Amino acid sequence: KDKSTVSITVVGASGDLAKKKIFPALFALFYEGCLPEHFTICGYARSKMSDAELRTMVSKTLTCRIDQRENCGEKMDQFLERCFYHPGQYDSEENFLELDRKLKEHEAGRVANRLFYLSIPPNIFVDAVKCASSSASSANGWTRVIVEKPFGRDSESSAALTRSLKQYLDEDQIFRIDHYLGKELVENLSVLRFSNLIFEPLWSRQYIRNVQFIFAEDFGTEGRGGYFDNYGIIRDIMQNHLLQMLAIFAMETPVSLDAEDIRNEKVKVLRSMRPLRLDDVVVGQYKSHTRGGVKYPAYTDDKTVPAGSLTPTFAAAALFIDNARWDGVPFLMKAGKALHDRRAEIRVQFRHVPGNLYNKNIGTDLDLATNELVIRVQPDEAIYLKINNKVPGLGMRLDRSNLNLLYAARYSKEIPDAYERLLLDAIEGERRLFIRSDELNAAWSLFSPVLKELEEKKIVPEYYPYGSRGPVCSHYLAAKYKVRWGDIGSDQQ
Ligand code: BG6
Repeated sequence: KDKSTVSITVVGASGDLAKKKIFPALFALFYEGCLPEHFTICGYARSKMSDAELRTMVSKTLTCRIDQRENCGEKMDQFLERCFYHPGQYDSEENFLELDRKLKEHEAGRVANRLFYLSIPPNIFVDAVKCASSSASSANGWTRVIVEKPFGRDSESSAALTRSLKQYLDEDQIFRIDHYLGKELVENLSVLRFSNLIFEPLWSRQYIRNVQFIFAEDFGTEGRGGYFDNYGIIRDIMQNHLLQMLAIFAMETPVSLDAEDIRNEKVKVLRSMRPLRLDDVVVGQYKSHTRGGVKYPAYTDDKTVPAGSLTPTFAAAALFIDNARWDGVPFLMKAGKALHDRRAEIRVQFRHVPGNLYNKNIGTDLDLATNELVIRVQPDEAIYLKINNKVPGLGMRLDRSNLNLLYAARYSKEIPDAYERLLLDAIEGERRLFIRSDELNAAWSLFSPVLKELEEKKIVPEYYPYGSRGPVCSHYLAAKYKVRWGDIGSDQQ
């Protein structure tokens, strides 16, 4: 019988992330029977709240997935019974000592493992870590801390944050989340590459013309302007989510699937990259736009955004990996808010077929006729490969069709949220999907110089209408490297 217990403290329990992601993910894990037999969940925040009030707050956020409908209400009640609340300041050792006492009561003498999820603003990270580690660490089990970005604003501030955290924690106690690594299709990227014969031999400059990492949202920063304005889209999305996908996409084969082996390869590929240069970046910011009688706001209409802010809400960038596999292949990134659609995907455009016998049957645009592999991370998860195919009939005309693995059609199970996988991994001590500090340094080195230059030179973003396809200049940037952005509009289903 399992004598140990895990206590999960959500620090910043009344915040948005806790409500939208953390509690629902913990419940989903509970439903699936993934949490240990003995566990306690404790919300920690400054406001006064009773256990009952926390339960009411949490209960509003819980849902059951389609495949989790059986006994849903009953399961929710059982889960809520294990949730408690403790009010306290984030920098008060005394309050964390009280928390420690409360956790001990629930742990009832078992081996007590403790997980702290810091869902709080970065300026109080270090204080909270200090208090948690000195006053509420486990006496006889492990203590782990999950931290969310931002991990600094540039190389220096990130290194300073890491140094401060390491005063109180060892590297292997720190779980830096990048929730994109918990997404099903990002996890599948390695399976696709390393467990199929047909992709890996093509995975190099010899056959790949360019790779694109695209993130688009069809809504603005509404309500989050205060945080966002200090960071901008490059720090919010590119330096982490898109770069992490790139690292997994482009790394060499790891020695094994162990966390350290995988992270070693990711660091290697990141360190082989050239820091991004200003002429390889395009920045944009959305402006107000009226469509169908509805007026959509400009970024700077947000009350929490300083007037005249130059913070980019869109960026496109061209990156290069200077190693034998990828020499000369453009890795293009594009990330933006308030665009015309919502999607996250990786597009791999292959080279032309040398001496293609069918060139004359393809049409005039040979570039459009190259193979393209699309990994659609969201929404409507899918992997599809665009191929040239003969249009049935007596003539000889080719068109582009998709070999399509649409998840909704192939798998009936709903895809778990990224946070479920990541929380489970943190509880189990699996570090593969968390960012190691050397990885974080390498990631910052690529973007810090250009971020500094953008700010120092006060580069004015290209203004694009809310709901549009984004700045025109991103097409010029791509064209400079003979690339055309892939577009879902052109994907034959
Ligand atoms: C977060 C960013 O990390 O990711 C947000 O801070 C962004 O700005 C979000 O909206 C997107 O996550 P997802 O999982 O909805 O694609």
